[in-house]
Amino acid sequence: MKKKRLGVNIDHVATVRNARGENYPDPLRAANFAKTHGADSVTIHLREDRRHINDNDLKVLKKKSKIPINLEIAATNEMFRIAMKYKPDFICFVPEKRKEITTEGGLNLDYNKQFLKKIITKLKKNGSRISLFIEPKIRDLKLAKFYFNADCVEIHTGKICRLINNKKNYQNEFRKIKKAIDFGVSIGLEIHAGHGITYKSARILSKIINIKEFNIGHFLIGDSIFVGIGRSIKNFKKIINQ
Ligand code: PXP
Repeated sequence: MKKKRLGVNIDHVATVRNARGENYPDPLRAANFAKTHGADSVTIHLREDRRHINDNDLKVLKKKSKIPINLEIAATNEMFRIAMKYKPDFICFVPEKRKEITTEGGLNLDYNKQFLKKIITKLKKNGSRISLFIEPKIRDLKLAKFYFNADCVEIHTGKICRLINNKKNYQNEFRKIKKAIDFGVSIGLEIHAGHGITYKSARILSKIINIKEFNIGHFLIGDSIFVGIGRSIKNFKKIINQ
């Protein structure tokens, strides 16, 4: 069976850099480490407020890194223009609220529907693979495939990960996610998963064979402080392909 891919979200390398306004730690160095240690892609979220990754990071990563780049963006004119310019390998549309600490939920696919569809068509023609970050809902999967013509969806795993990490019952949420994923595959979508994933939740979610890609950031970068980024990537690669 084909291995599940691991995308490493390196936003928080930039968070640490920005905390001191210096030019280190360097996201490009993190991307190079990610490649060397077996990650399949790196994810960066260019936020409207540029609180972690900035435009120059995208430029440098696109020019110098040798690993596919998954650019997360909100569906705005500004981000559309940037994505057209830099042609990242992958693009994942995410919702964005200025005051949130992190991406709190999946996209509202009814909001600005026609605009999103229009820019997806253009970005696909421009050569980027398109994913939508959504909740595990059958309706959203149908819209992603048949209205937006997305290549993939990423299922927001924040809720189940929080239940797992707080030692609560996660079975209902697991069933809901699995059902949505199996449905998504049956209509021809490639399925990814991301948000809040730790070693423990990765172990549980990787039982869903139809997940083809995991995108993991905060816990992975956090654990790197103790074990090194190479080790934390290897740990996750092993777990998701157990
Ligand atoms: N996938 C998407 C679409 C995200 O927005 C994020 C957070 O930026 C992640 C994955 C990574 O989540 P975490 O940092 O909690 O692992």
